[in-house]
Amino acid sequence: MSQQSLTVIGLGPMGQAMVKALIEAGIEVTVWNRTAAKAEAMAELGAHRAETAAEALDANRVIILSLTHYQAMYDILGPAADHLRGKVIANLSSDSPENTREGAAWATEHGAQYLVGGFMSQGDDIKHPDSYLYLSGPKDVFEAHRDLLRPLSRQEYLGDDYGLAQVFYQAELALFHAFLIGWEQALAIVDRSGADLDRFVAGASGHPNSYRDFMREFAEGAKHGGWGDLHSFKMMHAGAQHVIDASEDLGVDARLTRTVQDYYRRAIEATDKAGHPVPVYRIIRGDAA
Ligand SMILES: NC(=O)c1ccc[n+]([C@@H]2O[C@H](COP(=O)([O-])OP(=O)(O)OC[C@H]3O[C@@H](n4cnc5c(N)ncnc54)[C@H](OP(=O)(O)O)[C@@H]3O)[C@@H](O)[C@H]2O)c1
Repeated sequence: MSQQSLTVIGLGPMGQAMVKALIEAGIEVTVWNRTAAKAEAMAELGAHRAETAAEALDANRVIILSLTHYQAMYDILGPAADHLRGKVIANLSSDSPENTREGAAWATEHGAQYLVGGFMSQGDDIKHPDSYLYLSGPKDVFEAHRDLLRPLSRQEYLGDDYGLAQVFYQAELALFHAFLIGWEQALAIVDRSGADLDRFVAGASGHPNSYRDFMREFAEGAKHGGWGDLHSFKMMHAGAQHVIDASEDLGVDARLTRTVQDYYRRAIEATDKAGHPVPVYRIIRGDAA
């Protein structure tokens, strides 16, 4: 069997995790990184080190990019753009869907094929069973390279639209960011109260399915304009005040909950003005001016 090979450009925590997973899967990997020391560390694990970005492009047909944002792709590949023809660029860096579509147009105009990825990984643990990789771009390009990319994570291919992987990825991050800050506030409340933090964590982290059920119920509600009526908005507004009081009495920052409460205040005001329920979803969606 012929040796499979590819190039990884960008060796932050994610690029390094990818290089390790690919080498473990028996794939020959060439690397390049702006800060050379990170490439040297990967060479010690068995990767080939390219001296320049152009050399990294020339080394293989399939090139993975793992960069902070799309601007880094232009910074790195722009000066080597005449080396892009005939390559397959799998850009697994985060950015907006619009920037992603522009990036795909730029790469394909230079004669490359293109795939987009968004890693919903457990940090940089891409081999964790709950990690997965959203992918989008032309189906034939995905089908031709899915096996080579398989060591990276479970794949969720979404369709031809280059931006779609970023739509799903950024949408999940919107939830994830709020969730993480909310969790830190919850921990701070319990910690500051002097209660047993481990006992709280064991209980609170033991029923994630209740969030799944709310996700589904609110998604159904969203199809009909959003969840709730005036009574529920007032109930949520008052409930948010109790979280604010519980937090601030202990010296815990409650800015996240103040933002939450403000959404319900706006829903109450908009409902009063319209004479019918204007749910928070319509305010967030931007169609309740
Ligand atoms: N870390 C995670 O847990 C995680 C999880 C899921 C998704 N992601 C996403 O995956 C991507 C990679 O993540 P990461 O944590 O490895 O990112 P990172 O630490 O920000 O680094 C990625 C790479 O980008 C390079 N880079 C940034 N700007 C550059 C520029 N202008 N020119 C040349 N190189 C540039 C860095 O080079 P230097 O080494 O020279 O600085 C580094 O190799 C990001 O888009 C991130 O949002 C990360």
